[in-house]
This record gives sequence, structure tokens and C-alpha cells, in this order.
Amino acid sequence: MIGRLNHVAIAVPDLTEAVDQYKKLLGASVGEPQDEPDHGVTVIFIELPNTKIELLHPLGENSPINAFLEKNPSGGIHHVCYEVENIFEARDHLSAQGARILGSGDPKIGAHGKPVLFLHPKDFTGTLIELEQV
Ligand code: CO
Repeated sequence: MIGRLNHVAIAVPDLTEAVDQYKKLLGASVGEPQDEPDHGVTVIFIELPNTKIELLHPLGENSPINAFLEKNPSGGIHHVCYEVENIFEARDHLSAQGARILGSGDPKIGAHGKPVLFLHPKDFTGTLIELEQV
């Protein structure tokens, strides 16, 4: 069912520092910050030849990233995003097998303007999984 790895998301306490590191030290192609108020995050995408890195920084007091950064003050891998062809079919298939979908269960529009869903990490070997319809 899942296809390509769309991105790996890394939560960072300091966006500027992370951007400098990826740009200057690692020589990557780093995009511009985008605020995603629906998701409580500011994101920056880094293009790699075979996938992307999504730098995540909290936006607002209720950001889901705040608790993560409290537990991981220097930042860390937050989620991985896999591509699916049909997000509703993927959701229904997973729910029918007992996997928990976070939030209302309805896809939201993600940072790429495409529908996304998140799956409960406790159902997936401790990894928060984002599904994105491509
Ligand atoms: Co993501």
C-alpha cells in the first residue's frame, strides 16, 4: 500500500541554527519557512536527491511540537511520511485492521497542499507515520 518515502521530519528547537547547519555544513538545498497554522508548525523543506527533510518548529502555544521538544530538547526525528495513492482507502483499510488514526480521522491539507493523515505511533513500532496522498 505505501509507496515512496516522501520526507523525514525533524523537530528543531532553533530553525535558524538548523537551516545554517543543513545549508552551510551539509551543503543541502534549503527552502523558505512556511507557517502551517492548522498544524501548529513552521516548516522548512530540504530537498535531497531521493527524498526531503522537513524541519519542524513550533508555531503557537498549542503546537504539537512543544511537548516533543520538551522531551527532546536538542530536537529529534518526529515522523516519517509515506506516499499513498488514495488516502481514504488507506485510512479505511488501516482502521479496519485496528490501527488508530490521530485527530478526527479526516485528512487535513499538509505542507505540500496535499491531504495527509497521521497514524498512532504506538500502533507502528513507536514511529509517528504521516500518510500523504500524491
Ligand atoms: Co510531515
